[in-house]
Amino acid sequence: MPDRDAVLQALDQIIDPASGQGLVTAGLTRGVVAADDRAGCALDVPRGRKGDYETVRDQAEAALKALPGVQRVLVVLSDDGPPPPSPAQPPRPRTAGLSKAAMDQGRPKAPVPTDRPAHVRRVLAVASGKGGVGKSTVAVNLAAALAARGLSVGVLDADVYGPSLPTMLGLSGKPEYVDGAMQPHVAHGLKAMSVGLLTGASDAMIWRGPMASQAITQMLTQTRWGTEAAPLDLLVVDLPPGTGDVQLTLIQKTPLDGAVIVSTPQEVALADARRGHALFQQVGVPTLGLIENMSGPVFGQGGAAAEADRLGVTYLGDLPLDAAVRQAGDAGTPVVVTDPDGDMAQRFGAIAEQLAASLGL
Ligand SMILES: Nc1ncnc2c1ncn2[C@@H]1O[C@H](COP(=O)(O)OP(=O)(O)OP(=O)(O)O)[C@@H](O)[C@H]1O
Ligand SMILES: [Mg+2]
Repeated sequence: MPDRDAVLQALDQIIDPASGQGLVTAGLTRGVVAADDRAGCALDVPRGRKGDYETVRDQAEAALKALPGVQRVLVVLSDDGPPPPSPAQPPRPRTAGLSKAAMDQGRPKAPVPTDRPAHVRRVLAVASGKGGVGKSTVAVNLAAALAARGLSVGVLDADVYGPSLPTMLGLSGKPEYVDGAMQPHVAHGLKAMSVGLLTGASDAMIWRGPMASQAITQMLTQTRWGTEAAPLDLLVVDLPPGTGDVQLTLIQKTPLDGAVIVSTPQEVALADARRGHALFQQVGVPTLGLIENMSGPVFGQGGAAAEADRLGVTYLGDLPLDAAVRQAGDAGTPVVVTDPDGDMAQRFGAIAEQLAASLGL
């Protein structure tokens, strides 16, 4: 297990180009992890400057990787946190090592209370490193496939960047409040709640910052997903794409029982899937498997299976590129509902069964 102080020292050896100070001293590090064989943190960089800090991130990852006991490292760049200290501040001499305040800064804060939604048995995240790979399509169709097997299933659209559940399930209208709880919409046998229903799809982007995780927590805990007499078996959470700070905060705050990662077969998407898996590992959420979407002659085939092998995670199966999938999604009914006996429904069904088994459902 890596030594926490050694992790902080290593991070502070890397210089923030804006202030000339070490990353910890400059106050850029947050959520420092030193556990098992893992080390990592988020770096708060100035808004819109993530590109400038990629080298710094790589240096920080390399410094952590070199520490004894560290096998896996992950440093994520965040530009939507609180603004970093003013660069006008003169750089402090770095001879005295870390100040006590700097050391304390990196220590874990009191654990974030992860509010489990009431009467929900399992929570599963559907994630992807890269956008546009079919994460929402997979989330909705897996949910529908599990519902078709008799489970009570809900879908939470936590994608603050582009909520698509309203379109994919044909939902509209703000949720009603009854006895202080939001009533989920019900469509095709699924309970559903979306960031897009609370604000209108086009406003959802404003929630990217700290409000995002607050909004998700609210949808998670204030929606009447189930009752004592009829609990929800599974809540499927469609996470925003990417492996940045919004995602890190969300997965830290959401009581997840497992995650599935969706990727297309291309190397760019697979590299992001890898980062996605690392992010879940960092917070101790098991990756239940990798799914290859849009598999076939256009994007290639087999990349995700090979990647799953390399990562040591279960390969859950592939879903071919099929126009019917998009048409069904655009029209507000998942393909497993429009064509329950088709090839797609069978593929989703097979994946759904593996996941239900892993989740003990
Ligand atoms: N297997 C498939 N065959 C054909 N079209 C697909 C398939 N999977 C997804 N699509 C289509 O690709 C587009 C992107 O899919 P989707 O919105 O599910 O991706 P996403 O990863 O959730 O994207 P975002 O990052 O924007 O949230 C949609 O138009 C969807 O209908
Ligand atoms: Mg989506």
